[in-house]
Amino acid sequence: MKLLVTGGAGFIGSNFIHHILGKYPNYKVVNIDKLTYCGNLDNLEKVENHNNYKFIKCDICDSEKIDEIFEEEKPDFVINFAAETHVDRSILEPYSFTNTNVIGTHVLLETAKKYGIERFLHISTDETYGSINNGKFKEDDILMPNSPYSASKASADLLARSYFKTFSLPVVITRSSNNYGPYQFPEKVIPLFVSNLLENKKIPLYGTGMNIRDWIYVQDNCEGLDAVLHRGDDGEIYNIGGGDEKTNLELTKIILNELGKDESHIEYVEDRLGHDLRYALNIEKVSKIGWQPRHTFEDAIKETIKWYKENKSWWKKLKKEAFSEYYKKQYNK
Ligand code: NAD
Ligand code: TYD
Repeated sequence: MKLLVTGGAGFIGSNFIHHILGKYPNYKVVNIDKLTYCGNLDNLEKVENHNNYKFIKCDICDSEKIDEIFEEEKPDFVINFAAETHVDRSILEPYSFTNTNVIGTHVLLETAKKYGIERFLHISTDETYGSINNGKFKEDDILMPNSPYSASKASADLLARSYFKTFSLPVVITRSSNNYGPYQFPEKVIPLFVSNLLENKKIPLYGTGMNIRDWIYVQDNCEGLDAVLHRGDDGEIYNIGGGDEKTNLELTKIILNELGKDESHIEYVEDRLGHDLRYALNIEKVSKIGWQPRHTFEDAIKETIKWYKENKSWWKKLKKEAFSEYYKKQYNK
């Protein structure tokens, strides 16, 4: 089997490539990534010389180059992780989200249709549903995205579905909850807070800290994606949620406690525009194809914090090179 993974130099994509190369000795992986500020080949150092791994620098919006890659590589599976992913950046600079998330996904779908593939796994998100005060989202709930990020992801998700309905392209879609673990860019809340505290800086908690996220350890998500890739049904959507709901304040206190810091490090800052109150996923459908999260938040957050403690050079470089400009814009500093 040959897998064309897009966005494989990012957080979940790189964890997924490690997972696949570790589990399936006969699978080949071609990783195409534009290497935006979030794409980082350091995440793939351990596999860069692996016989079954190849990297091609490419923008998924570049239809000519994508066509050449499909013609040359003839992938069996496409797994589309490539995206602009940070909600706060989608509020500051939304066009890049429409370009990559919608147009880029469309280019991949068209090219996959032209060459024929066995499976197109499109990585969507729980944020496409919008916010839910009580209960949990099911796969057939309507999409009510609230940020330019989630609206662009919802558009891509619907385009992918339409290629199954109209052209019988073998598309499967996953909508996962908030991931955490190694290699997450330190603008997202967990690596941002952990790295700030390790640098003895304050941590910016939005609004009252009462917003709730449903956390999933990235390894569990990769195993869920693997299950859907191999055992999901064409045209179907699968929620992949960790079921570990925490308010942001609860999450912050867990991180502070783990790092032996007190609440004086919290800086309550202005809330995010359009900030979704709560995400929660019903995972009955994916459990029917044999997947359940294996890690508890209590254990996996400790492992995650340990990883960021032991890999300071990984995130320090990113914070220095890529994060400072955005941080200035975000906080007018
Ligand atoms: P990330 O931002 O860490 O990585 C995105 C990757 O895509 C980067 O390597 C970047 O260089 C690449 N990329 C961006 N634009 C590109 C383009 N035009 N062409 C080629 N490559 C491009 O993101 P992530 O957190 O790993 O998320 C991966 C996917 O999972 C995204 O589609 C995201 O919407 C989805 N998702 C993420 C989460 C989460 O909690 N992180 C939750 C649900 C869904
Ligand atoms: P984030 O990691 O950006 O993921 P998402 O917005 O996709 O869920 O944010 C997770 C939660 O943490 C969200 O409710 C916003 C909040 N948050 C803060 O309170 N402070 C921060 O500096 C960041 C980045 C996020």
